[in-house]
Amino acid sequence: MTTTIRTQVAIIGAGPAGLLLSHLLDAAGIDSIVIDQRSRDEIEHTIRAGILEQGTVDVLVSTGASTRVLSEAHQHDGIELRFDGGGHRFDFPALTGRSVWLYPQHEVLKDLIGARLAAGQDLRFNVTAQSVEGAETDRPHVIATDADGQTLDIEADLVVGADGSRSVARVAVCGSSRDGYFREYPFAWFGILCEAPPSNDVLIYSNSDNGFALISQRSDTVQRMYFQCDPDADPDALTEEQIWEELQSRVPGTTLKEGPIFQRDILRFRSFVAHEMRRGRVVLIGDAAHTVPPTGAKGMNLAVADVVLLEKAIRALLLEDDERPLDRYPEVASRRIWKAQHFSWWMTSMLHVAPDASEFDRRRQLGELRMVTESEAGRAYLAEAYTGWPFETQR
Ligand code: PHB
Repeated sequence: MTTTIRTQVAIIGAGPAGLLLSHLLDAAGIDSIVIDQRSRDEIEHTIRAGILEQGTVDVLVSTGASTRVLSEAHQHDGIELRFDGGGHRFDFPALTGRSVWLYPQHEVLKDLIGARLAAGQDLRFNVTAQSVEGAETDRPHVIATDADGQTLDIEADLVVGADGSRSVARVAVCGSSRDGYFREYPFAWFGILCEAPPSNDVLIYSNSDNGFALISQRSDTVQRMYFQCDPDADPDALTEEQIWEELQSRVPGTTLKEGPIFQRDILRFRSFVAHEMRRGRVVLIGDAAHTVPPTGAKGMNLAVADVVLLEKAIRALLLEDDERPLDRYPEVASRRIWKAQHFSWWMTSMLHVAPDASEFDRRRQLGELRMVTESEAGRAYLAEAYTGWPFETQR
């Protein structure tokens, strides 16, 4: 039994990219369906990163996608870089006139899902896309299976792959799910969530002889922290005491406020950009098109930038029969994507200690950190990228 559904835009993936796109399209009077293989509960409770750029907050608030950001998010006016026994503050408003906001991605997702369902959006959980067909035609479609094993054939004017790093849509665009430019890293992050007050007013990114650590936050009572580890590390191999020792040894000069650890995970990371972002009537956005290591906090912000651009292109295509913005989408989007790729790679390489780093590498790295922190231009360069470049506006 196959059920056929017809819509204007079929969106695979109910992450920030897919949900925000459906929200913006709805406001423009364009009909869409969003499917995701995960359950609503899984989407709303998977812990992800938490830094929103100024531009991302502006989009979420001005479009009504998430007004809770205004009351719940914490404005962060800077970060601190630690190395060689010293702390260096980056004052974002003074350097760029912008700030960032700490607001966990799953909270954005709760807001978006709530808003989409309240607006009557066709949003289906536990529906797995199997393939995307007909990219080169005017009627591409998504073949999917629901939780009962029923087949859905979703026919659309345009299919958008917002289905994350293991994208099914990418196969229709690039010919294979692995087709792209990529780079692996010889380290990962050991992440924890703990019940404790914040240890510092801003996030601390620390480069130490023992490796990197990031002291992040979630709320007044819950903190998120990471330390560099082997990609094959077992998250259950360390006791809580050992975890605190690892973290503490990497942020000399600060006494971390400890508390019960209630979640631990290993985050492997890599840099990836798909060779193509569009084939005919199938387009990729967010992690389906590119992934970044988490050090620059760019993942979700980059997805939002894609959406802002693509939504305008879809409006031109479906409301004005003008395909030119869609033709330009990959090129325009990739400018920001490669800047963010560079920034994420740069922060990662500058702050982590590679397992095979020589004494030369280590001293050069400290020289680089000094160059950035001791120069007003260096601090502004980092701050501009961290707080986010203005969104491209194209028609
Ligand atoms: C986080 O809080 O999870 C977080 C913050 C900043 C990053 C990466 C992750 O650069």
